[in-house]
Amino acid sequence: MRHLLDTQTLSRTDALRILDVAEDMADTQRREVKKLPTLRGKTVVNLFFEDSTRTRISFEAAAKRLSADVINFSAKGSSVSKGESLQDTAQTLQAMGADAVVIRHGASGAPRTLATSGWITAGVVNAGDGTHEHPTQALLDAFTIRKRAYGDDSRGRDLAGLTVTIVGDILHSRVARSNVWLLHALGARVTLVGPPTLIPQDVSAWPATIRYDLDAAIADGPDALMMLRIQLERMNAAYFPTEREYARSWGLDAARLRALPADSIVMHPGPMNRGLEISAAAADSPRSTVLEQVTNGVSVRMAALYLLLSGERAEAEKEDAR
Ligand code: NCD
Repeated sequence: MRHLLDTQTLSRTDALRILDVAEDMADTQRREVKKLPTLRGKTVVNLFFEDSTRTRISFEAAAKRLSADVINFSAKGSSVSKGESLQDTAQTLQAMGADAVVIRHGASGAPRTLATSGWITAGVVNAGDGTHEHPTQALLDAFTIRKRAYGDDSRGRDLAGLTVTIVGDILHSRVARSNVWLLHALGARVTLVGPPTLIPQDVSAWPATIRYDLDAAIADGPDALMMLRIQLERMNAAYFPTEREYARSWGLDAARLRALPADSIVMHPGPMNRGLEISAAAADSPRSTVLEQVTNGVSVRMAALYLLLSGERAEAEKEDAR
């Protein structure tokens, strides 16, 4: 693997490889000493042009547990706020010897531009670009679903036969897009639910079923119900009448939680708007995997960085040169 830019072009084989390596990484994270020497001498740059708490910290923890050096670069307070271009920033990182660049950017496609520009030789990991994709989030979600379904027997398995329902602000969600492609590639059946105003126009081309009635979707008994954050910061118009009205129609309240089958899990990528898309009762219930997702995120990002920066990278570079 040379870069991790999206899940739309990620093969089933590569996806399963990342999930299986993440299982090995998770095993090491249960030890008292969590640090592995694997990426000693490598430099990972976290290049964050958009705010982030858990994703940035998660990549930082992942890189450090593999003994890589980590440089955190956030656009606020840097020369980017003085108008420095992505090209100049990238070339500066290259000159400092970055081996991998983890990038979050408000513009869809920025990670691919960075990976294909020739400005840098580093491997590029997309940590969320605009409303486009957030591949490591989808991988950690798939990891979490697989772990809850198969426990210690997870290795090598896909998600065939499982159903995942994703609810809410699909329109602005890179998490939804990455999950649709990945879960489909892994054999799961995906349903998207939300108000028509928050379902994208091009959704008919996605491998997913669209529904507008959350109660009916819950009555189908999905194995996983993924609630998405209402992304108020990306909304320049009124997509729903009031927050109260949204919560009533699309929020996971106590009654809807009770209507779910006993073994279904409730997921949320965070940060949560408690009381809007998800009630506190649902967020804190034993079937909520919110914190498991955070824990699994570190293992999945360790796997991604390892596959990008270990021996296989040299092979990929040789292939590129041919
Ligand atoms: C998501 C993101 O930034 O796309 N969050 C995350 O990575 N933890 C989802 C969101 O912001 O709602």
